[in-house]
Amino acid sequence: MTRTPDGRAPYAGTPPARARTPADLDPRRIPVHVACVMDGNGRWASQRGLPRTEGHAAGEEALLDTVNGALDIGVQWLTMFAFSTENWRRPRDEVRYLMGFNESLLVRRRDELHDKGVRIRFAGRRDWRVPRRVLRRMDESVALTAGNRRMTLTMAFNYGGRAEIVDAVRALVAEGTPAQRIDERAIGAHLYHPDQPDPDLVVRTSGEYRISNFLLWQLAYSELVFTDVLWPDFRRQHLFAAVAEYQQRERRYGGVRA
Ligand code: FPP
Repeated sequence: MTRTPDGRAPYAGTPPARARTPADLDPRRIPVHVACVMDGNGRWASQRGLPRTEGHAAGEEALLDTVNGALDIGVQWLTMFAFSTENWRRPRDEVRYLMGFNESLLVRRRDELHDKGVRIRFAGRRDWRVPRRVLRRMDESVALTAGNRRMTLTMAFNYGGRAEIVDAVRALVAEGTPAQRIDERAIGAHLYHPDQPDPDLVVRTSGEYRISNFLLWQLAYSELVFTDVLWPDFRRQHLFAAVAEYQQRERRYGGVRA
């Protein structure tokens, strides 16, 4: 396969559509639910000779601009992958930093998000590894914003797609559900947020073409858009470009064109 000078495989899908403003988008085809894998913070920092943690810190602006861009175009559900069940394998200092960073990000940004009508939620395991004070901030943010409906921002934190499916099946078994009653509807109803629609669009930054255990059940028919932009450089214009690309796709759900 031909490779780019940095050794990476060239972009394999449809060339990305360019949309710089909401006016470039079809307002009737805005994805209801967008999910993002915020990847590339470490590489962004290394390129600048900075510690990886500086890349995460720079990712905050990208996160907030993406939320604001999503609000601008009327996205109703936005799910961001903030920490995976596998990210505990990262160096201890980075994990410690990420716990504190996510906590302080909530404290610094929740009022602003609340004022904009954003409901904050979390998806993931509340296991012993997540520090109590982080859980406390999460609970406070959920309680503060519980009544908001303009957009639901779900932070996938200590989240794994396989773990979510395991947890759903465990819950069904614990309820005594007979095997023949375990079907797609039953599993769907026991996911972390059963009321959440499946993502229409998943965006992953940093030129990696992987799902990395994100929303495995829910993204069965999601449209995937990959961009080379590293997460700290991602802004609402990149979100609009991804939505423009989504709007060019034909969704068939296993059927044929109508
Ligand atoms: C998946 O890649 C990506 C994530 C789980 C996102 C991680 C994001 C952060 C740690 C930064 C969060 C930033 C903000 C602003 C809250 P992976 O690296 O877990 O998987 P891979 O090994 O397959 O690439």
